[in-house]
Amino acid sequence: MEKLHINLGEKSYDIFIEKGVFSQVGEYIKKIYKNKKIVVVTDTNVDKLYGDQLIKTLVESGFFPKKVVFIAGEENKNFTTLIDVQEKIIDCGIKRGDLLIAFGGGVVGDLAGFAASTLYRGIDFIQIPTTLLSQVDSSVGGKVAVDTSRGKNLVGSFYQPKLVLIDPNLLETLEKREVRSGMAEVIKYGAIYDKEFFNFLLKENNYENISKNIEKIIKRCCEIKAKIVEIDELDTGIRMILNYGHTLGHAIEKHYNYGKYTHGEAISIGMYEITKISEKLGVTSANTSEKIKEILIKYRLPVEDKVETKDLIEIMKSDKKNISGILNFIFLKQIGEVEVIGVKEEKLEEIILNINN
Ligand SMILES: NC(=O)c1ccc[n+]([C@@H]2O[C@H](COP(=O)([O-])OP(=O)(O)OC[C@H]3O[C@@H](n4cnc5c(N)ncnc54)[C@H](O)[C@@H]3O)[C@@H](O)[C@H]2O)c1
Repeated sequence: MEKLHINLGEKSYDIFIEKGVFSQVGEYIKKIYKNKKIVVVTDTNVDKLYGDQLIKTLVESGFFPKKVVFIAGEENKNFTTLIDVQEKIIDCGIKRGDLLIAFGGGVVGDLAGFAASTLYRGIDFIQIPTTLLSQVDSSVGGKVAVDTSRGKNLVGSFYQPKLVLIDPNLLETLEKREVRSGMAEVIKYGAIYDKEFFNFLLKENNYENISKNIEKIIKRCCEIKAKIVEIDELDTGIRMILNYGHTLGHAIEKHYNYGKYTHGEAISIGMYEITKISEKLGVTSANTSEKIKEILIKYRLPVEDKVETKDLIEIMKSDKKNISGILNFIFLKQIGEVEVIGVKEEKLEEIILNINN
């Protein structure tokens, strides 16, 4: 079993990572929660696979669980679903001192976490992430949100869970494409923070090889994220390095109306493309982009797309991380080390287009 403590003063919490921990959820919850009523929020896919099992183990541990299920998919991470979920939680008889379990991938974690943060002005919640992306990234750090028609994650808050329980066995039912998508974030952690970890992933060559050590891999990712979040919980400084590849990646996702690539695939292209640019700018040491390309291809992620760069630039200008006309780009100096460089939006064309020519 791997354990991590996220040190955020009164908002501190533990993360437990262990194959099979899912069957002991009730016992873990008993240590942090003294009441009986619990509401599990999940999506239709996760519910079909694991919903009954979770309810059964909670009942066996003496809890009175209820379940609220919404239709799976990013397109449902919105206000309509949020209100529907919150009203169903109220109808279940859940009150302020009760507990919510966000049980699913990043979509469930973000929506259910936001529901918890605003229902009765905040009820406690825990995360049981079920995708690789949510196990290595979205379940840690307390960012919760819903999308609006104006963009992704535009309405949300920072709201830390009381506990995160990660069971890698749950990944066995995940589609291969979703696993690969999560790997983009795993590779990101190595690229921005830990050269040794990056080289380990490169040497292991593919997901099948690393899955033998999946608990350790998930732990390393959560550890890196935790270190960054502990310094900058509210994302005003160092936390932005987690966005390596994301500004370009988000633009690619948006260009295709979120229909062509998964989040991880778009980030994969973003990481390679931005590193080619920073290398040409002389910020990144030579051949780093080739290393990025090599590892992404090994993990069967895309690295290129034929979308016109000038179209992406227009989308990037409207990115929510564009603060007063300045976009912060996360450039690698070398593998494991980053530099944040603010680019004025009127300079974007000059920097990106001229270099690409
Ligand atoms: N809060 C954060 O810090 C943060 C960070 C990164 C991403 N995100 C958000 O995370 C979301 C993406 O998360 P995701 O990639 O987990 O997507 P997701 O939650 O949509 O899950 C992907 C698909 O896998 C299914 N699924 C989940 N667990 C499964 C399992 N064990 N077996 C079989 N199927 C399973 C889901 O029903 C869904 O169809 C985005 O909304 C993104 O904005 C948030």
